[in-house]
Amino acid sequence: MIDIPELSLVALVGISGSGKSTFARTHFKSTQVLSSDFFRGLIADDENDLSASADAFDTLHYIAGKRLAAGRLTVVDATNLQQHGRAELVRVAREHDVLPVAIVLDVPEPLAWERTQARPDRDFGRPVLTRMSRDLRRSIGSLAREGFRKVHVLRGVEAIAAAEIRYEKLFNDRRDLTGPFDIIGDVHGCRAELEILLERLGYALVRDPDRRPIDAVHPDGRTAIFVGDLVDRGPDSPGVLRLVMGMVEAGHAMCVSGNHEQKLARKLNGRNVQLTHGLPETLAQLDLETPAFTESVKTFIEGLISHYVLDEGRLVVAHAGLKEAYHGRASGRVRSFALYGETTGETDEYGLPVRYPWARDYRGSAAVVYGHVPTPKPEWINNTICLDTACVFGGSLTALRWPSRELVAVPAAQEYYAPVRPLITNTRPDVGLDITDVTGRRHLDYGYGKALIPAENSAAALEVMSRFALDPATLVWLPPTMAPCSTSTLDGYLEHPATAFDDLRSAGVPRVVCEEKHMGSRAVVRVSRSGEGDAVWTRTGRPFFGPELDEPLLARVRAACTGLFDELSTDWLLIDSELLPWSAKAAGLIRDRYAGVGAAGRAALPAALGVVDQVAARGLDVTALRDRLALRSAEIDGYSAAYRSYVKPTDGLDGITLAPFAVLAGAGVSYADRDHGWHLALADRLVETDPSLFTPTRRMIVDLDDPASEAAATEWWLELTATGGEGMVVKPWSGLKATDAKGRLIQPGVKCRGREYLRIIYGPEYTRPEQLDRLRRRNLGRKRNMALREHGMGLAALDRLAEGAPLWRLHELVFAILATESEPVDPRL
Ligand code: CTP
Ligand code: MG
Repeated sequence: MIDIPELSLVALVGISGSGKSTFARTHFKSTQVLSSDFFRGLIADDENDLSASADAFDTLHYIAGKRLAAGRLTVVDATNLQQHGRAELVRVAREHDVLPVAIVLDVPEPLAWERTQARPDRDFGRPVLTRMSRDLRRSIGSLAREGFRKVHVLRGVEAIAAAEIRYEKLFNDRRDLTGPFDIIGDVHGCRAELEILLERLGYALVRDPDRRPIDAVHPDGRTAIFVGDLVDRGPDSPGVLRLVMGMVEAGHAMCVSGNHEQKLARKLNGRNVQLTHGLPETLAQLDLETPAFTESVKTFIEGLISHYVLDEGRLVVAHAGLKEAYHGRASGRVRSFALYGETTGETDEYGLPVRYPWARDYRGSAAVVYGHVPTPKPEWINNTICLDTACVFGGSLTALRWPSRELVAVPAAQEYYAPVRPLITNTRPDVGLDITDVTGRRHLDYGYGKALIPAENSAAALEVMSRFALDPATLVWLPPTMAPCSTSTLDGYLEHPATAFDDLRSAGVPRVVCEEKHMGSRAVVRVSRSGEGDAVWTRTGRPFFGPELDEPLLARVRAACTGLFDELSTDWLLIDSELLPWSAKAAGLIRDRYAGVGAAGRAALPAALGVVDQVAARGLDVTALRDRLALRSAEIDGYSAAYRSYVKPTDGLDGITLAPFAVLAGAGVSYADRDHGWHLALADRLVETDPSLFTPTRRMIVDLDDPASEAAATEWWLELTATGGEGMVVKPWSGLKATDAKGRLIQPGVKCRGREYLRIIYGPEYTRPEQLDRLRRRNLGRKRNMALREHGMGLAALDRLAEGAPLWRLHELVFAILATESEPVDPRL
């Protein structure tokens, strides 16, 4: 029986003809086996071309590395008779923190020679084989020394034929245990607090005849997991050990080693260690125990492993935490990381090592629960949490319940030990963003769907983000683009309520709200009681006007929201709105693009008409030309009227208003699941509070199974758009999370723009039949996909914001929305 770890790098070792390839074929999947012959063939079209060996091995090592990084067993089928060649394999294995294993096939040289002669693909002479045999003899003894953690030597044909492979799990692989667990932070000899904590968690203490706790049992079969550092500094390290050792032995607890246990074990083994950091206290306490107890402590500690992967890979427990690449791996540096953390090599002003902030960069899906660094309050950082709440320094002893993630803490009865340095009070270190999280071609699974972001879109978003946008910490959400309703076939209309209603009806929506579409500029507002972090931004995340206007604007919104803060018990709100008038933000655009066209038309057409009239007066028949010019003149007047109705004078904040239409989020909550009645009621309240700042949104509720209700809304829309209104947005009444019958997210709204308004978009003459026919062939598919995707990402951002997700998790979504916006789609849609 050959035992090998489930994840390892297996080197087959043997002379030519010893049966390595045959062995590999028998025991492993063909994809698990990397053979030097095959790689020589890949490089040189000839498996025997020895001049290709160096490149072949380079390639082989590269692919072995990729497989090991992905956690896949890899077998190297080569003679592996040279020490320098094997050293490369050990290096690759170590680089990926997996154990290198050697399986030696040792057959008599004459047999191998006999086999070799029978092979058409081997044409070397006997001396070569003899040299190989000599190398093999020399190799066998040195494999273990070279770093192979297991060396299996199969001597003779029978042993090779009889061999069977048995896979071993690593000790740290406890994915089979699903809990529930109570993970307990650094105890450091605080036995009394530990007892109280266990009882509070529902464990019943079991005591020995001297009333000393030796076990704790939970009626629901929960398992305690200790993150290590049971000992040192505190008043009763032996008492803590007695209890934890008893729990572990009884199967009621698991324990990973802390650095303090390691140091204690070294001391107990007679090694020379510095008597600092509370070790002398532990030794003095142990002196009062029996030698047998101390011996059992030593055995216990030596049996502790440095990290566990639990609950189907969802949970990792290690004393000092563990970066993702090390989860479930085994090597010296994995163990060292788990025990001591990674240090930057520097020391701080107290002479203590400066730790590398691995949690800040953590992107793994497994929650990592650890201790080691005393902090006043445990906080989740990128799916990691430190439970060392400095009990021995007078803080508290904390447990994390798993999978509920509930924290339970017991305060320390006193300060048992004075800390060398003050506790790190900023437990929320700069959770910096990593540019590689957002650049390049990216696959994003945002829960409501999946998206592929092409590298060029990411690049475009990066440009906007880095040059123009607000601080990512502020920019927690961006509005999605909105698709128009399906194109209407009604005479004279490109967009019409009938198709808007059809769209939502066919998505299974029973009731919609038609909201007046304000023609202004999208403005997202974040306001808080304190004013800290408040901002108003555009749909591309830019500050709206600049501080001189944004700040007074925010101050007024903030003042108007005071009541809402109380009512919704939140310190801040995120509001989606339209800022009016359009000209406040778009004056330049209106002047350059629209006013010029209008002015030219209004100057040229009447003049032309005048000339035609003179010609007609001379008796020539120019009726057709006159009619055409008259129509164009009317069209250009309509066009001018359309954009002019959105131009209004403003002076500073005077004349500027906000039309709020959704309250998206507050502290710890997303309001995406509220219906539009709720959102609009809040909007109305703001209008009531400050009518000069807020503009109301006119609306109409429509039951899609009631033709009368639909007709009334159509009438309303006709009136609205005939008097200069842009149009309406039709939204599922149930709110932003509306889904279809299959549970898929649907469009949060479709816009239905007025006939006159669309002149600004499609040109003054677009209502002519031939133009309308052309425009009716416009393709909405892409715009719709984009709108839906951005909407889903926005919802995901609100969810993550509510659950307090790390900034990078929010930013990747906001960034993706921005990247999606750079997708080339018809801007007129
Ligand atoms: N063979 C055999 N009986 C075995 C094992 C191998 O007869 N128990 C034969 C194979 O069929 C093959 C030859 O011996 O023709 C060499 O076996 P192979 O597995 O290819 O040996 P390797 O060690 O892989 O040789 P090399 O180093 O040359 O690749
Ligand atoms: Mg072979």
